[in-house]
Amino acid sequence: MDDTLLGPVAMVGAGSMGQGWAIVFARAGAEVRLFDAAPQVLDAARPAIAARLDALAAHGLLNEPPQQVMARITSTSDLEAALAGVQHVQENVPEQLELKLELFRRLDALAPADAVLASSTSSLPASAFADTLAGRARCLVAHPANPPFLLPVVELVPAPFTAPEVVVRTRARMARAGQVPVVLRREVDGFIYNRLQGAVLREAYWLLKEGIADVAGIDAVMTAGLGLRWSVVGPFETADLNYRGGIAEHARRMGERYREMGAARGQPDVWDDALVARATAERRALLPLDQWDERVAWRDARLMAARAAGQGVPDSYNAAGDDSAEDA
Ligand SMILES: NC(=O)c1ccc[n+]([C@@H]2O[C@H](COP(=O)([O-])OP(=O)(O)OC[C@H]3O[C@@H](n4cnc5c(N)ncnc54)[C@H](O)[C@@H]3O)[C@@H](O)[C@H]2O)c1
Repeated sequence: MDDTLLGPVAMVGAGSMGQGWAIVFARAGAEVRLFDAAPQVLDAARPAIAARLDALAAHGLLNEPPQQVMARITSTSDLEAALAGVQHVQENVPEQLELKLELFRRLDALAPADAVLASSTSSLPASAFADTLAGRARCLVAHPANPPFLLPVVELVPAPFTAPEVVVRTRARMARAGQVPVVLRREVDGFIYNRLQGAVLREAYWLLKEGIADVAGIDAVMTAGLGLRWSVVGPFETADLNYRGGIAEHARRMGERYREMGAARGQPDVWDDALVARATAERRALLPLDQWDERVAWRDARLMAARAAGQGVPDSYNAAGDDSAEDA
């Protein structure tokens, strides 16, 4: 393990994301400095983090006593003090371009020259708020899921001006901290996480509008079905494992049905032969077809473990369709 990646980090903005990231880094062994413009947020942050660490420990998700993790986290209302000697700055202020522009100017002026400046932004590309900075090569987006100490994915989105070495270093630091970094090859609106989420939500709202089911029913299809499976294998691997012969066979059998559904909704994106061939080549590099049966058994074993842990039971759904139960 490379412990040079666990030098001090600064959380600029100590609201929900700042607190979540603080847990990620402190849990991994790094010193964390919390800074926030609002004194009341700063005061509330450490007790809130302590409560979450207790909950994580109660679930067996901490390797050491919560107080030991907590001891690595300090807070300060002095931005310069928060940034002194840090290797990584994680910005977590509200999603307003003007705020990020002004803050990145200050961070670039005050942070150590070799510190990476990462933004948690859900939607703004680094090229929108770091372009004019002298130190723009050290800036990028590191978009977490909420809460980051439970959902480990982090999207690393470099701007065209971000130094490749900064991406490599940030990826290694995030992996060392126990996260699952995914590097995007270029900036795109919504990154991957919110594009996928948006596609599902668009369809969920359409199903609701059409009266096909109520919100609980639509949610249950996800929590007791697709989402449960997607927590083990993503959409490409799902397609690959659902048909003997893999993803090419899936596209051959199902492609037209999905094309029709999309076209009827004004989304005429086609999985053309070239695109399917590309997905197939990537999947076959990851899983040769002679290991397909073994992988299907692995998927099922992972799902069995998830079911044994109580996953896939939507607690809000009245599966019997008996509305009177709500009044009981
Ligand atoms: N909440 C989520 O689900 C989520 C998920 C992924 C990414 N994000 C992104 O993370 C960022 C932060 O979101 P959040 O949910 O933690 O917001 P939040 O409102 O919980 O926290 C933001 C904090 O920033 C502080 N702040 C405002 N201006 C500041 C400044 N100039 N310097 C220092 N602190 C300042 C505020 O006092 C506040 O405590 C946003 O860009 C958001 O898009 C949020």
